[in-house]
Amino acid sequence: MITFRSKALYDKQACIILLSEEQIKKNTLTHLPAQIRSLLKPLVDNKLFKAENGQLCPAVHKKQTLLFVGVGKDNERTQTSLKISVKNALISSFLTHCNTLELIAHQQKDSIIVPLIESIMIGSYKWNKYFSKKSKKEKEEQKNVFLIALKKKLYQDAVTICEGNNLARDLVNDNADSVTSTHFEKVVRALIKGKKNISLEILNKKEMKQKGLGFHLAVNQGSVNEPKLIIVKYQGSAKKGDFTALVGKGLTFDTGGLNLKPTGGIESMRIDMSGAAAVVGALKNTLDLKLKKNAIFVLGVAENVTGSKAYKPGDVIIGYAGKSVEVANTDAEGRLVLADAISYTVKNYKPKRIIDIATLTGACVVALGHDYTGLITTDDNLSRDLVYSSNETNDRVWRLPTYPELKDSVKSEIADIKNLGTPRGAAGTLTAAEFLRQFTEATPWAHLDIAGTSFVDGAERWYFSHGATGAGVRLLTHYLQHHA
Ligand code: BES
Ligand code: MN
Ligand code: ZN
Repeated sequence: MITFRSKALYDKQACIILLSEEQIKKNTLTHLPAQIRSLLKPLVDNKLFKAENGQLCPAVHKKQTLLFVGVGKDNERTQTSLKISVKNALISSFLTHCNTLELIAHQQKDSIIVPLIESIMIGSYKWNKYFSKKSKKEKEEQKNVFLIALKKKLYQDAVTICEGNNLARDLVNDNADSVTSTHFEKVVRALIKGKKNISLEILNKKEMKQKGLGFHLAVNQGSVNEPKLIIVKYQGSAKKGDFTALVGKGLTFDTGGLNLKPTGGIESMRIDMSGAAAVVGALKNTLDLKLKKNAIFVLGVAENVTGSKAYKPGDVIIGYAGKSVEVANTDAEGRLVLADAISYTVKNYKPKRIIDIATLTGACVVALGHDYTGLITTDDNLSRDLVYSSNETNDRVWRLPTYPELKDSVKSEIADIKNLGTPRGAAGTLTAAEFLRQFTEATPWAHLDIAGTSFVDGAERWYFSHGATGAGVRLLTHYLQHHA
């Protein structure tokens, strides 16, 4: 939790004081009280503290723990390095027993304070629901941070946006058998309850059969859980026609289906609803920030499992748009669910632009790794705006190409197209996107592949702990705020 305060009062258990190398060298420390400067002086004189990036130096001031934190040189600091330093300070052993503290930035600038907020909110997030020992859980609980900064709308909004980010992470991190389509419906209903300018449409199995969402149904066929297409329409602006649709892939578990994933590839597949989770995060933020924009939030929720009822490789299925698809691989299920969700949204809601977000291809992880989401779009304006939002939020995207000749890669001998690209998966991210493009009906469209960015598999990455990152939430929220 963050509380904004305009002045440090040194009245909490601890105080984190960020300092740059320049501040130490030039001795520009007048913002600190004389007592604290005199505590710092011997540390600096004896070269024990130079404020090098990431350096932590504890001291005791009356009954309070002080932690001096180096944030390095002004021209070498990045948003990420700053966030990592602050995260490491917060979780350091010096502050283990301290729940309430003050944090004093080295500079009172938006470009510093906003990353600090994100570092506190996102950096100290830890998925600890299933630890049985309370002590361990408590240790990792979020601290109450009094941030020394003016109380500004921009900062309050940053806190809100981080909460949306962490909501998406909770959804991704929890068990696949808990976060089912029914759970998604519950979460969405709770978010929109009592809110104005909002409508909800949900297609279950029965409605999908009536309306012909044959792709979505096929993917979910082996599951005991209901498939759901959840659509929230939000009208925050008087501009009636101008809707942006956000469409998220919500595979609550992806076994690969009868083309079963091997050990090593299947264990993390509860994360395959990260796209839908990001859309839920963006929905929460849109409502909490009361954005004066129009948006449609679409979740295509299904479960891809094996069993005698599962859809079969080699079969031909027909989706909402009437196109037939050869199921060349049951593990290429995301594009099927998204194709129906996109077709249905385009036909029934006529959005001005459509952005889908999905853990779609392992190939994207190979191409871009874990730090950049893949962006594919047919529209240069969407590209420019999303890249701008990416730069502003540090929720990063990198554009990959799409071009007319790609349509050959999804040709089939027995159906209109197939759900698989070129042999040996060449450019698998591009061919998956090409499949989706064929269902957009020329609506300006962008596709975000978050297969690499949605999840940290090891102990940590940057300021993210193990597990979900909430990739796309800050990006999409910023996009809705500033462009849509
Ligand atoms: N959900 C996976 C993609 C994925 C892989 C997400 C790794 C996160 C981490 C997707 O449904 C999938 O299985 N894609 C296949 C496509 C292939 C069969 C054409 C893949 O990438 O191998
Ligand atoms: Mn799959
Ligand atoms: Zn999948």
